[in-house]
Amino acid sequence: MSIAEQLNKEKLPKHVAVIMDGNGRWARKRGSARIFGHKNGVKAVREITTAAAEIGINYLTLYAFSTENWSRPQNEINALMSLLVSTIASETKTLMKNDVKLSFIGCIENLPLKVQEELIACTKQTSQNKRLNLILALNYSSRWEITKAIKTIAQDICDNKIDTADINDQLICKYLETKNIPDPELLIRTSGEKRLSNFLLWQIAYAELYFSEVLWPDFRKENFYEALWDFQNRERRFGKTSDQLILNK
Ligand code: FPP
Repeated sequence: MSIAEQLNKEKLPKHVAVIMDGNGRWARKRGSARIFGHKNGVKAVREITTAAAEIGINYLTLYAFSTENWSRPQNEINALMSLLVSTIASETKTLMKNDVKLSFIGCIENLPLKVQEELIACTKQTSQNKRLNLILALNYSSRWEITKAIKTIAQDICDNKIDTADINDQLICKYLETKNIPDPELLIRTSGEKRLSNFLLWQIAYAELYFSEVLWPDFRKENFYEALWDFQNRERRFGKTSDQLILNK
């Protein structure tokens, strides 16, 4: 039996977040420019989006461009932006066919106009789709998001919209980019690096972390299913003891 067949469909994470890492190393191993790795990374994006939709994941968030990525060489940034434009444009039809809704988190106002236009057109066109929510994190980082949330909360207190006493976990969630999205239960990072890189730090408070040695352009459905399998075989205690979990079953 394949791993996909062995997965318990009732116990899948609703939301999986992915740090797609290793494109540059994948290209270097082949003596090619880094952008060759990003181009091949798009194949993995396609494959994992399809796998997530087929198996029944509701939300898939991909870290496509961080606020720190602006410090990369300008030619790599330009190539990544062009790749985003061409990929969004060429994949919209497939997203429609597969009933996938595209949205984004991050400060897209600072992205090139063409990226913003393509992104907004695709989010509009796919807005009624229901099977899978595909969320691209673009010009995103947790510290940016949390700073923005704190500023807005402070302003809303000044404007008497909320009271300091109202601030709690749930209220803060409403001020984040992910306000209508459930927290990820599983975070995958590829390429063997074991860092969180400023990604969804508030939201992954209780997520299971899965680090794969596979470089992103080589990441395939089977690798994704292995991560889901690993997730299903972990004990998620949320601060309780194992005995309490057994008693509550
Ligand atoms: C990290 O690998 C990858 C990125 C910063 C960009 C990810 C972009 C894509 C997969 C292509 C476009 C995506 C979409 C959603 C259309 P790295 O460059 O840091 O690799 P390295 O650590 O080996 O240098």
